[in-house]
Amino acid sequence: MSEHELRVSKIRDGTVIDHVEGGQALNVLAILGIDGSEGFGVSVGMNVPSDRLGRKDIVKVEDRELSQSEVDVLSLIAPEATINIVRDFEVVEKNRVTRPDSVTGVLSCPNRNCITNADEPIETRFDVVADGVRCDYCATILRTDIADHIDV
Ligand code: CTP
Ligand code: ZN
Repeated sequence: MSEHELRVSKIRDGTVIDHVEGGQALNVLAILGIDGSEGFGVSVGMNVPSDRLGRKDIVKVEDRELSQSEVDVLSLIAPEATINIVRDFEVVEKNRVTRPDSVTGVLSCPNRNCITNADEPIETRFDVVADGVRCDYCATILRTDIADHIDV
């Protein structure tokens, strides 16, 4: 895309989550726990033309970097995403997300009878499987609604 067509401004410092599957931008914000009340700059582009994906979403968060567990969960809803770290307007680091084998302590199990929902000191753990994530304790599978069960 030429400078002419740039939809959302470049940022000075922060993180650009690029090549997000079209329609997932708001779920990306949910995963990051961002609702705008935090005070840092957030720009969202939805259904932006992309050579690689056809249409993509893009999320730019100023003055904030992502934790590994946030990136792990992001990879589940945006497997093609690129995480760009920007400092002083330059991209200083670019990483593709990779799907982890499992995610611990970040998702809650939707099964009310799951041991992780009893008052026990047990951390949730989901294995990443082909069609979603599977609770290690009760085998409940989360598919499209992963973002609704983030617990961070
Ligand atoms: N970006 C930004 N602010 C900056 C620098 C870059 O918002 N100061 C954004 C760009 O708009 C782009 C992403 O960060 O969406 C990655 O930037 P860059 O690596 O320069 O773009 P590409 O080479 O097109 O990236 P890729 O090869 O990953 O598609
Ligand atoms: Zn469970």
